Amino acid sequence: MTARPLRIAVIGAGFFGSTLARAAADHAALEVVLVCDRDGEAAARLAKDVGGTPTTDLAEVERSAEVELAMVATPNHLHAEQVMRLLQAGKHVFVEKPLTIDAEDARAMVVTAAEHQRLLLVGHVLRTLPGVKRAHAMASSGQLGQLLEAYGVRSRVVHVPDGVTDWWKLDSARSGGEMLHELHELDLICWFLGEPDRVEAVAGAPLPLGTGSADTVHLTTLGFRSGAVGHHELSTSAHASAWGFRIGGTEAAIEVDFKTSRVRRFEDGRVTDSWDVFDATAANESLRESAEKRQAYHSHNDAAATTPLWMATAVRHELDEVVSHLREGAGVLADLPAAAVLAGLAALDRVRSTAGPAQADATVDAGGGR
Ligand SMILES: NC(=O)c1ccc[n+]([C@@H]2O[C@H](COP(=O)([O-])OP(=O)(O)OC[C@H]3O[C@@H](n4cnc5c(N)ncnc54)[C@H](O)[C@@H]3O)[C@@H](O)[C@H]2O)c1
Repeated sequence: MTARPLRIAVIGAGFFGSTLARAAADHAALEVVLVCDRDGEAAARLAKDVGGTPTTDLAEVERSAEVELAMVATPNHLHAEQVMRLLQAGKHVFVEKPLTIDAEDARAMVVTAAEHQRLLLVGHVLRTLPGVKRAHAMASSGQLGQLLEAYGVRSRVVHVPDGVTDWWKLDSARSGGEMLHELHELDLICWFLGEPDRVEAVAGAPLPLGTGSADTVHLTTLGFRSGAVGHHELSTSAHASAWGFRIGGTEAAIEVDFKTSRVRRFEDGRVTDSWDVFDATAANESLRESAEKRQAYHSHNDAAATTPLWMATAVRHELDEVVSHLREGAGVLADLPAAAVLAGLAALDRVRSTAGPAQADATVDAGGGR
């Protein structure tokens, strides 16, 4: 007997909410019943495409007896209030990264989910990619020995989309800044090694927005109770781009190179195994092509049709995990929901507290820009 689909509401009908909603509409185990956006036309357009009823009122989602899971894809500064309301209304919540942009809110969201016995799943999509999941399974089952170090990097030149000015992604007060907005690799470090107990950071070279490229370089080191260390590199001004992750233990190390869509296992400097990031050739090719292209943030003016194949495939894997959490009580999205945000905020605090007054001002801006 086939189980009936899980009924979901999508909050935010912009670029990524549309990507999630379209993937959900195509997923046999999910059914979109409500689409909520403060922009009624955007909600109606997306609902027409994916099914469900459009609304501009979050309270309608809270009141709906049908909705089991709410998927929140609104601007980052709105996540905390919306997620708390939805959890309190008894909904399971999937929220896009970053969980929130404030440390107190992050802790409160985790506590509220536990109090209401609801799932709080964060859209840390890289965890769900088959090649990365396999690396995590190997590391957590001891196949690399005792874990010693992790390294994550996302460094490239980021361009502001043409013609976009007053946009939340360009305002650190709403986005949380690059450090939080693009915390995917920081999350991988925490997912593999746990919650850090020490965070050190420096940031530099902020460039003003509107120069076509922007705006910051962040270097963060993390210490873990186990004795392991982490190193995170994030740049929006790196012409020699790099995008990857490495986890190393006493017996072996695994390196994920998102630019080539390959994962390699090393022992003593020799490659002893290798596999792809995705199971499907076309998705691997799409990731390689995307990594070679000019990097810009997607704007709400982009048609979701521009969602690259690798991203659509990644979102499908992510939704499989969401369904697995709800149906089977297991998956990779619920672990350490707040760790990356708390580490990112601690890194920003370190930058502010150790920089001179002029640089501290600049680095606050440098935290923003996206
Ligand atoms: N996982 C990923 O790779 C990835 C990629 C892109 C974006 N995201 C995340 O997705 C979220 C949305 O980003 P986006 O690119 O879709 O932005 P966007 O600007 O395209 O869309 C945001 C939408 O939220 C709506 N909105 C604003 N205020 C609202 C409110 N109070 N109630 C309901 N709707 C409201 C806007 O009208 C807009 O339609 C962000 O948290 C972002 O970090 C994740």
